[in-house]
Amino acid sequence: MTYRATLAVGLIMAAAAAPAPAEETRQLVKLPEMMQEHMLGNMRDHVKALNAILEALAAGDADKAAQVAEKRLGMSSLEAHGAAHMAPFMPEGMRAIGTRMHKTASRFAIVVRNAELARGGEGARQVFGALKEITDNCVACHDAYRIR
Ligand code: HEC
Repeated sequence: MTYRATLAVGLIMAAAAAPAPAEETRQLVKLPEMMQEHMLGNMRDHVKALNAILEALAAGDADKAAQVAEKRLGMSSLEAHGAAHMAPFMPEGMRAIGTRMHKTASRFAIVVRNAELARGGEGARQVFGALKEITDNCVACHDAYRIR
């Protein structure tokens, strides 16, 4: 196949794989302006934390990965995130997903420390599984709620 033909096929396949422009199904959660800013700032740190966890895992540093997860996403992050101020503005379902995210991150911190002791691929699968338990909540909340 020529380069152009390959490119065309690739583009068609990418278009087929992309989700259709979805109609808005997320619930709008009205937050005071300052709280919106605060929440989005927290969110940007969530991505940075995931990135730092992956960096630590790539370096084989389970302890660092555990520390980042616990401090920046886990139960220990609640105060820094001002969770107590924000929770009352959230619908019950949203709050529950948020709580689950913090719990799964704390659980990940335990799994990753223990997995270092596990032999071979099983330890890695446990770590990836526990990491996905965290990101499930990012996806679930983003699918269900918006603030603007
Ligand atoms: C309890 C709900 C909830 C959870 C859990 C959650 N988010 Fe969010 N996130 C939101 C909402 C709501 C928005 C704003 C969406 C909108 O209105 O545009 C958002 C926005 C974001 C943004 C955009 C920030 C900006 O400045 O525009 C990023 C990045 C993000 N989230 C990352 C994450 C990551 C990574 C995780 C998981 C580790 C996560 N979020 C977990 C609710 C959540």
